[in-house]
Amino acid sequence: MRKRSILCIFIIVSTLFFFTSVHAEEQKYCPLCSMNLKMFWKTSHWLTFSNGTKTGYCSIHCASKVYQKRATDIDRWEVADYSTKKIINAHNAYFLIGSDLPGTMTPVSKLAFYSPGVAKTYQKEHSGSIGSFDDALKGAIEGRGEDMAMIKKKVAKMSSMGKKLTGKHGCYKCHGEGGTGGKATGWNSKEFARSMDNRVSIKEAIIGGSHNMEGYKGKLTEKELHAITIYVWTRRAK
Ligand code: HEC
Repeated sequence: MRKRSILCIFIIVSTLFFFTSVHAEEQKYCPLCSMNLKMFWKTSHWLTFSNGTKTGYCSIHCASKVYQKRATDIDRWEVADYSTKKIINAHNAYFLIGSDLPGTMTPVSKLAFYSPGVAKTYQKEHSGSIGSFDDALKGAIEGRGEDMAMIKKKVAKMSSMGKKLTGKHGCYKCHGEGGTGGKATGWNSKEFARSMDNRVSIKEAIIGGSHNMEGYKGKLTEKELHAITIYVWTRRAK
């Protein structure tokens, strides 16, 4: 009897573990910029929409873009606590704004903390001002111009790095020089733009493979993958 209940508990625990781990694996990339959520976990924001789906974004920069389009559709807004990485209610968080700690997609970081005490400890060392969620959101919306100027520069850098990497990894053998088409579809073709209409799809195709193309899983670092994705994205037909 005892053995059986131990077995039962084991099965329940491993099933729960399986489901929670599968759930955490579900979303790898920010749907807007395709950055890896694990890498940018400490600045990630999580929105639950009225249809019950929950989506993670790399930063308040990307989450605030969604807010501007679908404000009334957002039922819950959560954020990672910068100090513990736990996901907490964003409305109750204390934001350290404009410190010398790096932000994501912005030159003015807006980092969330679960307690004012912890936020103050970080402020002592890294300066910046402490504000509410509304202050952080307002900052993200009003600072978009400044964010975009920085992002543009970064994208240009990543894209030229990606261009070299696509050459190095032999992509042109099939997709043509500069991805203009060969044995495989050109990245500048209308057809490609139609099937690959966002950066996450491009990333997933590179990693997972597509038709006659073998996936590059384990052959590229996350940074290389991101640079190649950005380069391919900049080549698309507009
Ligand atoms: C051995 C040939 C080959 C190589 C090397 C190759 N690809 Fe592909 N790739 C293909 C084929 C074939 C497809 C299927 C669709 C098509 O014909 O374009 C494809 C599809 C894709 C797609 C998805 C497009 C879609 O509509 O399904 C992306 C994105 C892509 N490749 C990017 C790359 C990148 C980036 C590299 C280098 C890191 C690369 N490929 C290397 C042959 C190749």
